[in-house]
Amino acid sequence: MANPEHPSGSTPGPRGPAPGVAVALGRLRLPNPILVASGTFGYGREMTGLVDLRRLGGAIPKTITPLPRPGNVPWRTVETAAGLLNSIGLDNDGVDSFVANLLPWLAACGAPVIVSIAGANEADFVSLARRLDGVAGVAALELNISCPNVSHGVDLGTDPVACRSVVAGVRAATALPVIAKLTPNVTDIVAIARAARDGGADAVTLINTCQGMAVDWRRRKPLLGNVIGGLSGPAIKPIALRCVHQVRQAVDIPIIGVGGIMTIDDVMEFLVTGASAVQVGTANFAEPIVSTRLLDALPGALADLGANQVGDIVGTLALPTAVAPCPSSAATTGRLDHAR
Ligand SMILES: Cc1cc2nc3c(=O)[nH]c(=O)nc-3n(C[C@H](O)[C@H](O)[C@H](O)COP(=O)(O)O)c2cc1C
Repeated sequence: MANPEHPSGSTPGPRGPAPGVAVALGRLRLPNPILVASGTFGYGREMTGLVDLRRLGGAIPKTITPLPRPGNVPWRTVETAAGLLNSIGLDNDGVDSFVANLLPWLAACGAPVIVSIAGANEADFVSLARRLDGVAGVAALELNISCPNVSHGVDLGTDPVACRSVVAGVRAATALPVIAKLTPNVTDIVAIARAARDGGADAVTLINTCQGMAVDWRRRKPLLGNVIGGLSGPAIKPIALRCVHQVRQAVDIPIIGVGGIMTIDDVMEFLVTGASAVQVGTANFAEPIVSTRLLDALPGALADLGANQVGDIVGTLALPTAVAPCPSSAATTGRLDHAR
């Protein structure tokens, strides 16, 4: 499979050139592969004074929708023994407010801004793409077709036909690079990734949160106001790695890996498995500077593998030859079991 990386240049270090960290996901060029994930970094401004935003490989602000949304009733986050459960419900002020009040400040910080969009149906996605096309400071669009916390949040991300259609609709509405963010809550992630590629996506982001629930048995009540939410953090890293692996083996499209990343080892695991870049999510809440700390550690980790640039290691996982094929890699129908 062709390597989607085309890194540029390297930074001279005291002992010779350090490995280059620039990456490209198709035509989307990023200064480094460490991005911050939507919904876990606000709109950037909240991190002023804590994080050097210029150093981010990319900033993905909280998902925006056509109109303002108040989000779900509380509680909207619950800490569990092995991860964070959230049901925010896409609380945001809508696209017009984002473009007028939030985007200009974030874009002026210097990191590429990938705008995350969501809607109740394909028409919403297409109108958002049209609205953002040509707006200064937007480097790419990430289609959140994978939000488990709103009605219709995953309609377009769990059915290959709908996924291909919404991506194609957005593709036709904008010249911006288009990234489809997929949900792990499907039977066959490969079929969805293939549909996104066939619709014209430049890349896929894997993964959004895994559906979960927390209960107070004494009060006999669910802890989240919305009852069910999305689990994130280290608990879901193995699921995210599995999704990256399956898609990398079957679909020729750049992948952005996300799910439980907290350490440079986590970053390297995603890169060798097949992600061309990564996003850091829940870890931002515990350690706002985590992304720049990981960036500082990246050249050393690349050097440990003898790599000159990030692209040298992407998808270089040595797989056992006798491994059974992933069930989903063999799927060619593009239909999910539960849709039959
Ligand atoms: C509180 C919270 C809010 C989130 N909001 C969004 C969102 O608005 N849009 C989106 O695409 N993903 C959202 N996510 C999902 C993250 O971007 C990420 O895909 C997921 O948390 C897995 O990464 P992590 O384990 O590193 O957190 C949210 C996650 C959390 C924890």
